[in-house]
Amino acid sequence: MTDLATFAAGLPKAELHVHIEGTLEPELMFELARRNGVTIPFASVDEVRAAYSFTRLQDFLDIYYRGADVLRTEADFRDLAIAYFDRAAADNVRHAEIFFDPQTHTDRGIPFDTVMAGLLAGMADAEARHGLSSRLILCFLRHLDEEAAFATLKAAEPWIDRIAAVGLDSSEVGNPPAKFERVFGAAALLGLGRVAHAGEEGPPEYVRDALDVLLVDRIDHGNRALEDPVLVTRLAREAITLTVCPLSNLKLCVVDSVDAHPIARMLRAGLRATINSDDPAYFGGYVNDNFAAIADTGMLSRADLITLARNSFLGAFLDDEAITGHLAALDSYVDTQR
Ligand code: ADE
Ligand code: ZN
Repeated sequence: MTDLATFAAGLPKAELHVHIEGTLEPELMFELARRNGVTIPFASVDEVRAAYSFTRLQDFLDIYYRGADVLRTEADFRDLAIAYFDRAAADNVRHAEIFFDPQTHTDRGIPFDTVMAGLLAGMADAEARHGLSSRLILCFLRHLDEEAAFATLKAAEPWIDRIAAVGLDSSEVGNPPAKFERVFGAAALLGLGRVAHAGEEGPPEYVRDALDVLLVDRIDHGNRALEDPVLVTRLAREAITLTVCPLSNLKLCVVDSVDAHPIARMLRAGLRATINSDDPAYFGGYVNDNFAAIADTGMLSRADLITLARNSFLGAFLDDEAITGHLAALDSYVDTQR
């Protein structure tokens, strides 16, 4: 590892963009398949990894939804979450805001409550063993319709005080933010935060509409916002957090190489960018692998890496006191590295 990557690895950080279903490593996929008597279309872990070759988002989504089929019981969701949090803690993640896709599970007959109870058990374990705090973000699958999203929000109501925000993920192009205007409005009335994937493959208008129609607090990805200078100025002025995912962008061909990644341009434009892993089991790396890949390009300074970690706390669904505490820990780390 380069000095910069080592420095980045030690930074206390928050992860704000990780799909818990995307942390399902092939080894755990096989174990859960065996435990639950589920057949998977792969003979070995190596065969699973070899299948992870994508040219666009939809290639990945097809295999990701199939992988999730091994998740059946509360214990499965708990073990999935524990495995992620253990890995995140090793990367000095102090706070994580995890997406989950309830429709992927309820559509297979898995009760919403099973998913929630399992994830909450994993979150409690992370707090107890690592002091790692976490929040849940319920994502609506944007390839499904508004009615299905409303049904999901209804199923979530008994758990509403355990959910920080709603999000929007899955196939972006052809499923614009406006499709979910009413359900995001209903979520806001329930007191939930709002985030949305936008500008990953979709055009800058989707980023603008996520802000104006869905009234989001953060934009997930946001890469294509850079095509619109007026939008960039607005995102900077309003200090909108972008949850950027470099290795995901590489694996889904959103960028041609890590060297071509726009993260440096985002920071130079004054955008509140953060570094995240998205679906680490599928894209070849957890949050520190993403920091290392970017650090190794040489396009960022130490100060930039500190800014990225600082932004991750500033953009979190945490109260001011918690944010201040995390920023003080970040400053202490930096002081030890001088
Ligand atoms: N679901 C899981 N990962 C995703 C991504 N990167 N974009 C859209 N939907 C997703
Ligand atoms: Zn994502």
